[in-house]
Amino acid sequence: MTTDNAFDAKAKTWDNDPVKVARAAAVAKAIRENVPLTTQMSALEFGCGTGLLSFELKPYLGRITLGDNSPGMLAALQEKLDAAKIANMHPVMMDLDKDAIPPASFDLIFTAMTLHHIDDTEKVLRDMYAMLTQPGYLCVADLDAEDGSFHGPDFSGHKGFDREDLAGKARQAGFHRVHFTTAFHMSKGTGPGQTAFPIFLMVVAK
Ligand SMILES: C[S@@+](CC[C@H](N)C(=O)[O-])C[C@H]1O[C@@H](n2cnc3c(N)ncnc32)[C@H](O)[C@@H]1O
Repeated sequence: MTTDNAFDAKAKTWDNDPVKVARAAAVAKAIRENVPLTTQMSALEFGCGTGLLSFELKPYLGRITLGDNSPGMLAALQEKLDAAKIANMHPVMMDLDKDAIPPASFDLIFTAMTLHHIDDTEKVLRDMYAMLTQPGYLCVADLDAEDGSFHGPDFSGHKGFDREDLAGKARQAGFHRVHFTTAFHMSKGTGPGQTAFPIFLMVVAK
């Protein structure tokens, strides 16, 4: 659905948007409030972009692997890691639309604003289940179901997610203890369509 380079052009200025920075901080807070994080945990951030969310969670976790399929995003992330001399965050090229999945090795997977770009939601949830150890947690932050105004008419991805529907897909993938909170509220555009976009955090356990 998303081409390999769709986000490359946005990478260099991604962190200049205070809303994206605030969104990552709010999602990180919601994750910390809903998952017992420890510095022993090995985590994967899927669709990491420039790593805003992982930077927020870094003090509370052990090793973090950051996967994305945009070379531009990964380059911007690497620059930040080099500048801050961070040793426990490891960027990798990863495309769950195409690539073989790594074996079960993560205690925690988190992903923000990426699921709506992935065609096959059921498959990616199954992949994430397979990549988690047991016990393990998956945290998904994304748009609640919206009218298409968030991206506009040319977008072919998901128009957010209905919480009940996504919960059902997570259970089908094998997850349990499904819990939703509202992590953030975004405003975008001036109408005539929807301009307020709540962002949920779904936490599920393996
Ligand atoms: C809307 S951005 C969110 C970035 C970051 N999570 C944040 O909240 O700032 C979506 C990210 O998902 C990545 N992405 C989209 N499709 C992907 C795929 N199939 N595999 C891996 N990453 C993907 C994009 O390159 C982009 O960095």
